[in-house]
Amino acid sequence: MYIQADTDVYCVIGNPVRHSLSPILHTFMFEYYGINAVYVAFEVQHIKEAIEGIKALGIKGANITVPFKNKAFELIDETDEDSSFLQSINTIKNINGKLYGYNTDFLGFKDMFMEYTKFYSEEDVVVVLGAGGVSVSVIYALYKLGIKRIFLLNRDITKAKNIQKKFNDKIEIEVGNLNDKEIINKADVIINCTSVGLKGNETPINTNWINESIVVDVIYFDTPLLKAAKQKGLTTINGMDMFIGQAYYAFKIWTGIDFSKEAAQNLLGDMEL
Ligand code: ATR
Repeated sequence: MYIQADTDVYCVIGNPVRHSLSPILHTFMFEYYGINAVYVAFEVQHIKEAIEGIKALGIKGANITVPFKNKAFELIDETDEDSSFLQSINTIKNINGKLYGYNTDFLGFKDMFMEYTKFYSEEDVVVVLGAGGVSVSVIYALYKLGIKRIFLLNRDITKAKNIQKKFNDKIEIEVGNLNDKEIINKADVIINCTSVGLKGNETPINTNWINESIVVDVIYFDTPLLKAAKQKGLTTINGMDMFIGQAYYAFKIWTGIDFSKEAAQNLLGDMEL
């Protein structure tokens, strides 16, 4: 399909954003479902002007990524209950010049993690590593899935304690640091939400301490942590399905269409990451 004068524009706004898989995925889906729209990446310095640009240019929808998810939340016109709690959005829909914000990151994680919760018991030790923005979305998903108690390990304890306070009436959180051998030892599930492993060979925790645990990473390829867990014969899940899940919900908000997750997996699975 050619780009025409009436082609709708969607985008992802972030910095850095040149590595993003969102343009490939959404453009593919627009084509697949015969929608006259394109999806491009904008690497921006100033989020306020960028959000105003969505309105000024009539951009139909946007994804917001690092480091603007919190700031964007403050700049839009309407939010829903989930994004209000999270104080963070990754999806905007422009309806006649009014910007509606949503958080589909937690939904993507929730769907990906649903399989595990089928056999979750309240005695299970669920460990989250990291206390940044992604961790908040992941913990919210865990809460929505009915998990009652987690351990939150982070380098900076103060940040972990702030999250503990935020979830005060929702989910019980025990806070520790990344060197907590005892907790890592008895973990049934470990979910890495730190950025360690995005580049290089580092792991956020000492992998010798992991016993019988499912190891999950929100990063969308097999990180050194996941590779080490695989070598131990453990079940691992990388963040590709979470990524596809957040895109699935964004696409649904924009178009009303449930895109084929299988088609998305086939598309991105063949790609050199
Ligand atoms: P995001 O939005 O992806 O969550 P973030 O808010 O910058 O990004 O959070 C990154 C997380 O990775 C934080 O928990 C950070 O730990 P601190 O809170 O102590 O800064 C963690 N992180 C980044 N580099 C790290 C490293 N080298 N060792 C341990 N943790 C690290």
